Amino acid sequence: FNTIDDMDLDGKVVLTRVDLNVPVENGRVTDATRIEKIVPTVKEIQKKGGIPVLLAHFDRPKGKRVDAMSLGQIVPALEQALGQPVAFASEAIGGDAKRAVAALKSGDVLVLENTRFYPGEEENEQTFTASLAALGQAYVNDAFSAAHRAHASTEGLARLMPSGAGKLMEAELNALDAALGTPERPVVAVVGGAKVSTKLDLLSNLITKVEHLVIGGGMANTFLVAQGIEVGKSLAERDMADTAREILAKAQGAGCTIHLPVDVVVAREFKAGAPSEVVSANACPTDAMILDAGPETVAQVRAVFAQCRTLIWNGPLGAFEIEPFDAATNAAAAAAAELTRAGKLISVAGGGDTVAALNKAGVAEDFTFISTAGGAFLEWMEGKDLPGVAALIAAKR
Ligand code: 3PG
Repeated sequence: FNTIDDMDLDGKVVLTRVDLNVPVENGRVTDATRIEKIVPTVKEIQKKGGIPVLLAHFDRPKGKRVDAMSLGQIVPALEQALGQPVAFASEAIGGDAKRAVAALKSGDVLVLENTRFYPGEEENEQTFTASLAALGQAYVNDAFSAAHRAHASTEGLARLMPSGAGKLMEAELNALDAALGTPERPVVAVVGGAKVSTKLDLLSNLITKVEHLVIGGGMANTFLVAQGIEVGKSLAERDMADTAREILAKAQGAGCTIHLPVDVVVAREFKAGAPSEVVSANACPTDAMILDAGPETVAQVRAVFAQCRTLIWNGPLGAFEIEPFDAATNAAAAAAAELTRAGKLISVAGGGDTVAALNKAGVAEDFTFISTAGGAFLEWMEGKDLPGVAALIAAKR
């Protein structure tokens, strides 16, 4: 695919797809990470003489105008990140959008209203896509985290205009390639989260790609059940036991070692500060539930990390949002951070919960790369083609 470096942007209005789907409370942005990450792309377009017109979705308004989902509320955070005023058009296509674009001068930045206020966005419908395209002369896609959606602004535009990847898109794709495409081996993947059923494709793909797979969180309980271990009142998908057994067998055939908890932290209640104890993974009392991996498991995870060159992480090891059940996630994250700082490990992590857990552990900065993507990161780890990326590759040909 083309990058901004390959594109002639001088004097052009550059439709720039970014991800402004950030957490907002009472009309204020509570985490501006995604906004800060698009700054280099906006500046680079300006440096090349282009005028960035930002396209983005916010939340899921389902093709209708929903005032609470207006991108207008993101403008102050954008202005702060960019250090300049940002104009806002109350439409993404049509009169107001055209007037706002016509008024732009070199150095300006404009953000158009939520593309998902129009049914044509998610339908990737031709007339809507053409109306967007008519507003500019080039298209830059910097929204890796929305690249799993085949929408007008993430996919359709690349077929209508000179197109390229923004700086963040480039960085995300390079990091992911280094982690799973052409990684330094051995590779360890950490997969956590509540359910096996939502991560089946992920597990099936990873066992063919990595040497070590650490399974944590609620889904580890399902694997314990699959091995005939009683897990008391723990969250577990008993109907997935056969599937879990199949994954274990396939992993063995594929030369991937799966690491399950050997000891666990159990409690009678799922609440902060609930009295807890560490027991062997096969000794969960019938009236208790597993809420975290234990210290022996963490020691083993640490030893696996130390043997590997590359780590890819999606999903916490325990109920990290409630203390003290964040201990295993924090300790494993700290170990990964230390090995990364020492130049021994390339560490890449992604997914909303994962990034929140690493931030909470205070080690996110030490990781080689933290993706801004949730669903897109997962789909990419599942080995799926992302339509937004595929369209950029096709546009180059
Ligand atoms: C995200 O927040 O992960 C992306 O912006 C995609 O949002 P969506 O899941 O509503 O398509």
